[in-house]
Amino acid sequence: MHDYPADIFTENDDIDVDTLANLGPLRALAGVWEGTKGLDVNPYIDAPRRQTYIETIDLQPIDPQSNGAQVLYGLRYHTHIVKPDEVETYHDQVGYWLWEPATGTILHSLTIPRAQVVLATGYAAADATSFEVTAVRGSTENGICSGPFLEHAFRTDSFRLVVTLNPDDTWSYFEDTVLQVFGRPEPFHHTDRNTLYRVGPAVPNPLARG
Ligand code: HEM
Repeated sequence: MHDYPADIFTENDDIDVDTLANLGPLRALAGVWEGTKGLDVNPYIDAPRRQTYIETIDLQPIDPQSNGAQVLYGLRYHTHIVKPDEVETYHDQVGYWLWEPATGTILHSLTIPRAQVVLATGYAAADATSFEVTAVRGSTENGICSGPFLEHAFRTDSFRLVVTLNPDDTWSYFEDTVLQVFGRPEPFHHTDRNTLYRVGPAVPNPLARG
């Protein structure tokens, strides 16, 4: 249980508008990134399929957000993935990485065009060099929501994403999406991993630009 303030309505009128200075462990993710050695393991008819991939992620700061007394700083992101030497989109994802300095909460939202959304949460110290967020289907504080076909055929029961910040201005992730494929006895671990190298800077949020 969180130690939330009794007055949930009154907004903090002294918010630092420089998001890049208030992102805690998410600060290292701000910018534009590329990773050429991604590895995806996805479900298929007879056996899991493994696929290498090339990934671009654009993570840019947004203005601070208030929910009443709560203050969140965040990055809006777009992930685009292709197979090596292909143009066709292999995976596309949009969402936010959010940081609540008052509680050390990290929130990660993702929307993918399979008709699926996820809100995954975790906790970390502001100077953490590794952190993880998780979501469980059916939870009311995080969650996974899939369209009717996915819910029937590839029900997603949990999601876990671990981020590691490397000392050389790169970062790595590992994610495990646990699917219950229709008619199969065992859950399937749909996993993805990559290391991202910086290819562009973070642009300060609109309010910080004045
Ligand atoms: C780097 C990230 C990811 C890549 C490259 C990727 C790629 C893929 C691929 C290639 C398939 C099989 C597609 C097919 O057979 O039609 C698949 C299936 C699936 N993925 Fe992902 N995925 C990623 C992340 C995620 C995430 C984060 C989620 C949800 C939290 C997710 C949910 C699903 C589901 C539910 C399926 C089953 C539907 C199907 O097989 O058609 N994926 N993914």
